[in-house]
Amino acid sequence: MSEVCIIGTGRYIPEEQVTNEDLSSLVDTTDEWIRTRTGIQTRYIATNENTSHLAAKAAKKAMINAGISEKEIDLIIVATMTPDGAMPSTACLVQHYLGAHQAACFDLSAACSGFIYALSVATQFLKTSLYNCALVIGAETISKVMNWQDRSTCVLFGDGAGAVVIQQSQEKGIESIYLGSDGRGHDLLQCEGWPLQNPMHRRELFKKATEGVFPKMTMKGKEVFQFALKRVPYCIQKVLEEGDYGVEEMDHIILHQANDRILESVAKKMKIPQEKFYSNIHRYGNTSAASIPIALDEMREQNILQKGEKLILVGFGGGLTWGAILLTW
Ligand code: UT7
Repeated sequence: MSEVCIIGTGRYIPEEQVTNEDLSSLVDTTDEWIRTRTGIQTRYIATNENTSHLAAKAAKKAMINAGISEKEIDLIIVATMTPDGAMPSTACLVQHYLGAHQAACFDLSAACSGFIYALSVATQFLKTSLYNCALVIGAETISKVMNWQDRSTCVLFGDGAGAVVIQQSQEKGIESIYLGSDGRGHDLLQCEGWPLQNPMHRRELFKKATEGVFPKMTMKGKEVFQFALKRVPYCIQKVLEEGDYGVEEMDHIILHQANDRILESVAKKMKIPQEKFYSNIHRYGNTSAASIPIALDEMREQNILQKGEKLILVGFGGGLTWGAILLTW
């Protein structure tokens, strides 16, 4: 079994910045409410780009950072809950934009845990030596499934993409992985699929489809918040146990950026200094599958990550799904 290391990171954020004040002219909300309940100050939304465009731009930067060419990429996985369409996969579009023609490509759907799931899957392909080098991307244009009249969701999310290049290595890299799901919580975070459109189906659904009613995201925020407070410490514990590490040996913990209050609560509960938790939610809001690779790229760029340091990445979200990865940088 080979070791697998992250050898490059990249991010791409669309240009259009939306402030809390901007949103307070759309829905009944305030900058004060959004800041104090979530930590969010701004987010960015794509106005003329789709998920594949954001993904390809983040991927290109990650490839430059890794110093590898498109010919070396064997596998592309895009974690997204907002693909460009049902077919082709967003990963195939990314492959096309990059010219990485020999890569196998597919999308992976695990909502805000998507990047952790995708990195886990790609790691298995490399550990077993089926492939040598993979692009793992988390990319979202959540703005297209947002209900812009629902203040309980539209102030929280943003668009963006983050990517990593992983490669087989002699050195220690990705060490422990833990994934979990619970479909009993399927209705806590939802973006329903397209209604059946055949004329044999029930009349009201047929009517909905022909009227062009598109799916919109809904979230039972409080329940998801409680789920995260329980699940995130459990995920951290699981990967520590598997790697036989103590929590004090970890240098950085990177949670999916959903709410600063989740981060603060986990830090307190697990007695981990809050400085070890990276936060950028004030800039981008919740970018779902993109939030962890965006954070990794920022941390690398700012020299926060040093070679040999131990990191835990934790994702959680719709499904319900959750997962963590412990790695040496
Ligand atoms: O990425 C996937 C994982 N997602 C998460 O982890 C999100 C987890 N959940 C959360 O982060 C929080 O639950 C929210 C930020 C979504 C909501 O915070 P909360 O403290 O749980 O607020 P709440 O839903 O209990 O709402 C409190 C009050 C309500 O008013 P009443 O009923 O007390 O009068 C809401 O109607 O705040 C109201 N409210 C708002 N007020 C102003 C809800 N949204 C807004 C808003 N502006 N945007």
